[in-house]
Parts: sequence; C-alpha cells; structure tokens
Amino acid sequence: MTATILLVDDEENARNNIGSYLESEGYEVLLAANLETAREHISAQEADIILLDVRLPDGYGPDLLSETRQLPNRPPIIMITAYGDIDMAVEAMKNGAHDFIQKPIKFERLEQSIERAQDIVDMREELNHFRKAQREELNTIVINSDAMKEVFRKAQRAAKRSTSILITGETGTGKEVLAKAIHRMGSRSDKPFIDINCAAVQNTMLESELFGHEAGAFTGAQKRKRGLMEVADEGILFLDEISSMSEDMQAKVLRALEERSFRRVGSTTSIHVDVQILAASNKDLPQLIEKGAFREDLYYRLKVLNLEIPPLRKHPTDIPALAGHFIKQNNPQMGLNVEGITPEALKLIKSYEWPGNIRELRNVIERAMIFCDDAVIDIRHLPGELQR
Ligand SMILES: Nc1ncnc2c1ncn2[C@@H]1O[C@H](COP(=O)(O)OP(=O)(O)OP(=O)(O)O)[C@@H](O)[C@H]1O
Ligand SMILES: [Mg+2]
Repeated sequence: MTATILLVDDEENARNNIGSYLESEGYEVLLAANLETAREHISAQEADIILLDVRLPDGYGPDLLSETRQLPNRPPIIMITAYGDIDMAVEAMKNGAHDFIQKPIKFERLEQSIERAQDIVDMREELNHFRKAQREELNTIVINSDAMKEVFRKAQRAAKRSTSILITGETGTGKEVLAKAIHRMGSRSDKPFIDINCAAVQNTMLESELFGHEAGAFTGAQKRKRGLMEVADEGILFLDEISSMSEDMQAKVLRALEERSFRRVGSTTSIHVDVQILAASNKDLPQLIEKGAFREDLYYRLKVLNLEIPPLRKHPTDIPALAGHFIKQNNPQMGLNVEGITPEALKLIKSYEWPGNIRELRNVIERAMIFCDDAVIDIRHLPGELQR
C-alpha cells in the first residue's frame, strides 16, 4: 500500500519542498496550511501518516495528538520542530507523537522516520485484518439442513428491512448466534449491536439499563447515564430472554417501541431513537400470555417476524457439519490435532435426543476431544447419556 501523507505547515515553501520530495519518493501527499484543513482530511480518514508543524495560524499543532488518538486508524504523527523546541518535542512524544524532526529538514532523516511510521500503519492493518478473521471464525454459523436454511433465508430477508424479529426455540438452539448473524448481514452491520440479557439484570435495574437515567434519579445514580436504547441508536438492540421481564417493564418497553422514543429515568424529555429490535425467548410465550405472565400486545409488537429455530433432534443432518466445525474451532485453542469422529460414534451422536441442543453438542465434542487426546473421537470418549 502507498501511504498517504498529510503535510501540515503554514509556510508555502516548506509545503512545496517537502511535498514534492515525498511525491518523488512515491507517496501520496495531502497539503494543509492550517489546522482546520488538516482536521478535515483527518476526520475523513484520508491520512495514513501526518507531518505536523507546531505553530500554525489557527492553533497549536500538538493539539491534534489527542484528537487523532480517538480515530480507528490512529495515524502516526511526526512533529516538525524548530531549533530550541526540545521541551515541546519531549512533551509531544509523551502525548503519543511518533517522532520529531528538526528544521531544517534533512530528507534522509525524514525518510527513515516515515518508513518506521509506515511499518506501524502496516502492522495495525494486519492486526485488524487478523482480528476480523478471528471474529468471523468465532461467529461462524453452520447451516446445512433444509430446515435451518429456511430459517436463515427468512432471517436474511428480515435483516435487510429493519423489522422487529422474535427468535424462539429451545435452549441452545442458536438464538443468540442467529441474532448476531442478522446484525452482520443486515443494513445495520456497521452500527452497534447491543445485547441485554433480561434474565441477568434485576428488573428494578432494567429500566435504567435500557433507558438510562439522570443524575440523582435514584440512590446510587450519581451521574447521568445513557441507556442501551440510546447506545443502540441506528443499530440493533437484542432483548435476550425477554420472558424474564416484569409486567411493569413490559409496558414501558412496549410504549418505547410504539412511540420510538422514551425518557431517561428522572427526566421529562423524550429521546427519539431509530433502533431495530430483536428479541429471543426459549419459553413458550403464548403459554405465558395465557397465564397472564406476558403481555399479548408486546408479543405481537415483537413478532412482526417470528423465526422459530427447530430443536437439533429435528435437523440431525446438521450434526456432522456442526461437530466438524467445533473440532476445527477447538483444535488450535486446545493445542490438539483431532482429526474427526469414527462412524460408530457419529451414529450415536446422530441418534441422541440433544435436550441441550447445539450448545450441548458443542460441550460433548469439547469433552470428547480432551479424552481422545489427538486421535479420532470414538464411542468411549462420549458421555454415558449418549451410550444408553
Ligand atoms: N448454527 C450454529 N452454528 C454453529 N454453532 C452454533 C450454532 N447454533 C448454536 N451454536 C453454538 O451453540 C451455542 C449456544 O447457542 P446460543 O447461545 O445462540 O443458544 P440460545 O438459543 O441463545 O440458548 P439459550 O436459550 O439457552 O440462551 C453457541 O455458543 C454456539 O457455540
Ligand atoms: Mg441465548
């Protein structure tokens, strides 16, 4: 990759000289005579490396150090300092400058510094790439059977349209995995995916978790806090284990969904948000509605689309691929080199009921891998309940 270097200097001569030198060395060069222009290039993330003069007509160059630190690409900054600016240069290095070069600039010294900055840029890019690949590996969703393909196709269509989706299915069938996949393949993939497990948060705290609170709204609320609804703006809010929500909270969530706005606890101002809602439950919601434990109106509000993931025993043709996927995923993590499963063991695995569904399968494979120690998973490595 050819690095783009942003040169910020108010002296036209310096810009021309250094600029044409850098271009002759094959870099792309952007020029800025003041901080304002520099900030425009920086916030558009056009610069890979920044060459920065200290005193500029509209401010102090090193101020950019803290501003660029917030950016995802964090371009390395090389300060151009005048003779005698040593204190400033030391300060700039402490604040994260990549290097400093004294005027008058020696091109050889400049080239060295830029090459090192380029190494950093390349390394960061590689690291990002690696992280992304790793995330994707962890996020892989295995789908082979017709039943699962059908669920996935529906999910794909809904993901593009920002409709509310209710994901149901027994424990361990992959509701959370599917919710995350919907985020990845939808139009909101570059916006936040915020999940909250309603069963893990006390109902009294759920309101302030979701909607936020003002300072002093209740004991312990020292500072104003944004709620997850606000954090998820333009993205997705995943309400997991929705059946655990108290009736009071169900009413508040319903109102927020209908009005597309809500108030922080202790505030009178409405906050408007654009959030796609996904919800999941492993409980039979219609049954809970009958018992008066879940609001029917909220149920219908959430299930504009209902994705019902079948239990694993209903799509056993996915089992070999899932098992293979877990082996492949675990091998590097466990420092093993397990090759596969014997046909006899696979037969047992396919005929088992899997009450804990895919999560249980994952755990059984992991356990078998510990016991089989590098060979092939066989019947004797499987837990007793499968052998009965
Ligand atoms: N289609 C799939 N492909 C690969 N792995 C899967 C798939 N579905 C589920 N898993 C695995 O099973 C585990 C459990 O899935 P998940 O947490 O999504 O279940 P759940 O339906 O939310 O269960 P619960 O109702 O208990 O919360 C996941 O961590 C993942 O390892
Ligand atoms: Mg879950």
